[in-house]
Amino acid sequence: MKITYYGHSCFSVEIKDKNLLFDPFITPNQLASKIDINKIKADYILISHGHTDHIYDTLEIGKNTDAKIISNYEIVNWLLDKGIKNTHPMNIGGKYNLEFGTIKYVNAIHSSSMPDGSYGGNPGGFVVQSDEGNFYYTGDTGLTYDMKLIGEYINLDFAVMPIGNNYTMGVDNAIIASDYINCSRIIGVHYNTFPIITIDKQEATEKFKLAGKELILLDIEETRNI
Ligand code: NI
Ligand code: MN
Repeated sequence: MKITYYGHSCFSVEIKDKNLLFDPFITPNQLASKIDINKIKADYILISHGHTDHIYDTLEIGKNTDAKIISNYEIVNWLLDKGIKNTHPMNIGGKYNLEFGTIKYVNAIHSSSMPDGSYGGNPGGFVVQSDEGNFYYTGDTGLTYDMKLIGEYINLDFAVMPIGNNYTMGVDNAIIASDYINCSRIIGVHYNTFPIITIDKQEATEKFKLAGKELILLDIEETRNI
């Protein structure tokens, strides 16, 4: 698997020549101003919940790439109304088979409304399983004991989780989440985009190290084999 970070909670994972793009929010992000969204490849776009900072560039990238957009039922309906046709609706606990493996939509403790204020269904995260490996993107969430369930039945190679605090888990709770899911390799997202979610990257990395875990903080546009 290969992961590329596009800032905030947007990243893509390449599995078996397929690109899975998560939570596209790039053009409003000053830290990601060098990225040309017309160059982003996507076969699938996965949306964790309806908030602007997770969905903003979906319509544009969806139209450019004709990627299949996967999200909860309500968000998919909202996208259909906006003219996006290639979609797949899910809900919490459901698993979907794709050519490279499976995607499961799992619980997140957060909220979900669309940029126009309409109902955005339940917020979620995604567990992706494939021959090349397994990972879990928690989406925006607080620490929840539900995460233990995932650690009980899936061997995760890495997990992507928010560490910016205020709207989501911060570093300390992300370390506990890492215990719950039995996965010591964490990619931190949802930090430094706005002043309220600023973190000290070095302190965060050291806290993970002290707990015997690895926190990976990718540069924007950095790609890494994982
Ligand atoms: Ni959110
Ligand atoms: Mn968010």
